[in-house]
Amino acid sequence: MKSKVWIALLCAAFLCINCTPKHSDPAQARIDSLLKTMTIQQKIGQLNQLNAKCMSREQLIEKVQRGEAGCIMNVSDSLAYVLQQQALRYTGIPLLIARDMIHGYHTLFPIPLGQACSWDTALVREAARLSARETRRHGIGWTFSPMVDVVRDPRWGRVAESYGEDTYLTSVMGEQVVRGYQMEGLAATAKHYVGYGAAEGGRDYNTTWIPEVQLRNTYLLPFYRLIKCGCEAVMASFNEVQGMPLSANKHLLHDILRDEWKFDGVIDSDYGAIEQLVKHGVAADKKEATRLAIRAGVDMDMESHAYKKYLKELIDEGAIREADVDSAVKRVLQMKERVGLPLQPSVEEDYSAEAMELAGRLAAESAVLLKNNGLLPLSKQSGKVLVTGPLADSEGDQVGCWSPDYEAGHGITPLQAMQQRGRVVYSPGLRYSRDRNTRIIRDAVKAAYQADVIAYFAGEEQLLSGEAQSLADIRLREGQRQLLHALHETGKPIVLVIMAGRPLTIEDEMAYADAVVYAYHGGTMAGEGIARVLYGETNPCGKLTMTIPRHVGQVPIYYNHTNTGRPARQEPDIQAIPVGTKAHPAGAFSFYLDYGTKPLFPFGYGLSYTTYEYGSPVVR
Ligand code: NOJ
Repeated sequence: MKSKVWIALLCAAFLCINCTPKHSDPAQARIDSLLKTMTIQQKIGQLNQLNAKCMSREQLIEKVQRGEAGCIMNVSDSLAYVLQQQALRYTGIPLLIARDMIHGYHTLFPIPLGQACSWDTALVREAARLSARETRRHGIGWTFSPMVDVVRDPRWGRVAESYGEDTYLTSVMGEQVVRGYQMEGLAATAKHYVGYGAAEGGRDYNTTWIPEVQLRNTYLLPFYRLIKCGCEAVMASFNEVQGMPLSANKHLLHDILRDEWKFDGVIDSDYGAIEQLVKHGVAADKKEATRLAIRAGVDMDMESHAYKKYLKELIDEGAIREADVDSAVKRVLQMKERVGLPLQPSVEEDYSAEAMELAGRLAAESAVLLKNNGLLPLSKQSGKVLVTGPLADSEGDQVGCWSPDYEAGHGITPLQAMQQRGRVVYSPGLRYSRDRNTRIIRDAVKAAYQADVIAYFAGEEQLLSGEAQSLADIRLREGQRQLLHALHETGKPIVLVIMAGRPLTIEDEMAYADAVVYAYHGGTMAGEGIARVLYGETNPCGKLTMTIPRHVGQVPIYYNHTNTGRPARQEPDIQAIPVGTKAHPAGAFSFYLDYGTKPLFPFGYGLSYTTYEYGSPVVR
């Protein structure tokens, strides 16, 4: 009986998900009466979020039948539907099926940092909508994105998942992504709440110390905006702020999110984060961690298995109130009502012409032209082009990080796209981005002598960016620098295309190339998008949303830094300081003696094939 009620409820909810007012009293009444019939174990089960990859199919089915999970992550297609049916049959309550869909499911769009460079919110929303459509086809109703961490440190591998260094742009992009998801009934998560992007030294999971004024000015706004747009969930971040990890941070979760902003959606923990409160040193053991997390306001426990083990015990001991558990369960049940939970496989196909076309367009509009001495655009008259570099023909890398559902063979690499447009010879130069095999560098150099132009696709393998992929050195890897120098020796004109998950410090390389395009990891159709730019079919329009430093030692460097009391009046020149000088001629100002104050390329930078003149504004 319960399952029939839920199916009817879900169909109704599915039909009215699109940004409609979220509360309907009848729904609330149904949830309240359902809650009254549930045992404490059934309630706790709803707060448990399990990773399907950590157990066998049989174990999963058994747990779902016993009502030990409110959400299963990392499962799709037939198993997802089987679990959904089992949940309805045995517990009467459907499951949330969740997945990290960050920039596409099968059809992958550019990484979010690339998408943001298009500055085209309508395009970004449409990419999110098409991604949501593919995601839902696979039985998934909830995704852990968008990531709206403001980022200022390219050493942090997760800058790839962000929209860059600006608070407002991040908010607007994030909102459009949520709207795109909502159009297809996919529940979104604003993550990682909050300050995760400020990890000290750019080292992932590292501590942050962010004064409240900076939290409010820089880091909180995107979350606020997403919540106001109806984002269904918020993920508490791994990091601590002011010494308190988010999963136990009552001030940030309860006082700000719930009390001040009136957020009534689900607060999810990050993976194993409740258990990690012990490692952080704020909880003596997992039981105390459980108490801290539920009291701070974390509704769902992602893979710490803490709520399942200790919540009942804590209630029995009077350490927490059953009412707090009830409130968390209500929010989970509300989310199940609000989102259209997929109950049956869809017959539609992925990689639709519409999605692939948009992926190519967004890849082209994300590419940022940094330098052009007239070599670009290429044309038939450019002659024979040597295509080289570790990213020239690596579909698995161009899709970028967080592409767990990537399937080989659907994409277009730069090599393939260039072959469709002109006379091309290919020599990889290096097999992968960290390769240092000079034998194949020699082959590329030989091929360069036979060509008229060199198109060198450099950058990072996808595994060098994303979660836990922090780097202390953000130059191009040594082998790639060697390859560039060797190609330069041939005297042939070079267009350097960087395909990476973060801004890399490429100051030295700029001098070796006649044209430079920063394309990030452009997704399934990266090659097509880049080729359109190189051949002038798309006028480059991408603008940076994250500063590119000259040197890693300048980090953090971002456009809206406060002025300081001693802003530099000129860029210093360390070599020009006469030996024995007591005080630096440039004065006592805020700069680096060796690298000054200016980045290699600032936020907003990007050229095109057109020239513009800026004049004084006129009011008519
Ligand atoms: C950890 C990551 O921080 C988070 O972004 C992700 O959604 C979860 N793992 C689930 O995979």
